[in-house]
Amino acid sequence: MPKYHIKTFGCAMNVSDSERIASFLEKQGFILAKKTELADLVVFNTCGIRQTAENRAYGMIHDLRKKHKDTKIILTGCLANRKDVQIRMKKVVDLFTEIKDFPKNFSKKQMNYLCIKPKHTNKFQAYVPIMTGCNKFCSYCVVPYARGREISRPAKEIEKEVQALIKKGYKHIILLGQNVNSYKDDGINFSKLLKKINTIPGNFWISFVSSHPKDFSNELIETIAKCKKVCEWVHLPIQSGNDKILERMNRRYTQKHYLGLIKKIRLAFKKYKPDSLYSISSDIIVGFPGETKKQFMDSAEVAQKAKFDMVFFGQFSPRPETVAWKIKDNVSKKEKVRREKILNEILKKTATENNKKYVGRKIDILIEKQINNIYFGKTRTMKNVKIKSKIKNLVGKIVKAKITKANIWNLEASF
Ligand code: SAM
Ligand code: SF4
Ligand code: F3S
Repeated sequence: MPKYHIKTFGCAMNVSDSERIASFLEKQGFILAKKTELADLVVFNTCGIRQTAENRAYGMIHDLRKKHKDTKIILTGCLANRKDVQIRMKKVVDLFTEIKDFPKNFSKKQMNYLCIKPKHTNKFQAYVPIMTGCNKFCSYCVVPYARGREISRPAKEIEKEVQALIKKGYKHIILLGQNVNSYKDDGINFSKLLKKINTIPGNFWISFVSSHPKDFSNELIETIAKCKKVCEWVHLPIQSGNDKILERMNRRYTQKHYLGLIKKIRLAFKKYKPDSLYSISSDIIVGFPGETKKQFMDSAEVAQKAKFDMVFFGQFSPRPETVAWKIKDNVSKKEKVRREKILNEILKKTATENNKKYVGRKIDILIEKQINNIYFGKTRTMKNVKIKSKIKNLVGKIVKAKITKANIWNLEASF
């Protein structure tokens, strides 16, 4: 039987897409090869968010082609549609295909790839895409070009998928979309969808990424805080703390609006889940073209004020087709690194302060893996926890443990 292997780059959305490609290929008679070198067909599910992500894929594809002349190589994902990529890689790639057209290349039948039952890589945590694409067109971002316009999946289909996962024993459902707040299906918005999933019987957690501050409604804040199964974690990317830069990024909100949201989220958690801890994370881009040192300090100020638990920093990377591509990338690499370091120092302080609140508390932890005598798991607030224990077979279970120590990036606990 022919063998396949998939290399995935980029975000959770791509990981989820690869899970669907894997099950589709297995239905076509392919079996999984442990390494690319052993496969007859290798699928590169690519990411174009930054140049570094692109380069990683190019390097691996060239490498594979050099060593294995006969392997069939498919390039899909967020680089598949780019003309410059197709030209650059045409000698080494056999087929370029958008993810949604993937099935069409194997069978004549037209089918919606989101209907394919995924081959989940994990037995207790599952990604469930609720929408794909993006209509926001932030000036730096390639996603609207790479993935096209927003398409929401029918709520019934999502509910069925979650129900089946819970029956199989899944404990953490992660709803995915570039902009989950814009979800809509026949009168069902994201808040209503969350409420529906929250009523599915079983002991499981619900979380979601990503949210956009412009569309983060009061109804949603209340829903998150009220729904018992929805985790006490909000990932709300701000990108910049400076209003002028936010405007040039086409984000359509201000620093004041963002900080107002954070305040409302905190108040709602305190009101509806007074005994719970909660966490807030974000994305920040440093060195957007024209960002002055002073403007950058507004991002630093927001990071301080919002007391983030986690921030994914990224140095601005010019992306073809986007509006910011045409603006001179005038912040030096050295300065971008310096700004990242400043944010990292702030994050270390706010994260440590937040983590200290956990010490002495007995809380739920989903155990993800075990190495020797140590279990590694996550809290409902997405904090990593280490637990030393001789108890057997806890992986995939939600257990209660007492937090004994707070570090910068993780917690320690004991039973
Ligand atoms: N939809 C989400 C939002 O609006 O926040 C983000 C999705 S994007 C896949 C993930 C992150 O990549 C963004 O939040 C942003 O910080 C970062 N990113 C996107 N384009 C970038 C670029 N050109 N350079 C650097 N970072 C970028
Ligand atoms: Fe990109 Fe903006 Fe869409 Fe997020 S909302 S995917 S940053 S264009
Ligand atoms: Fe994700 Fe990268 Fe595409 S971050 S949506 S895989 S460009």
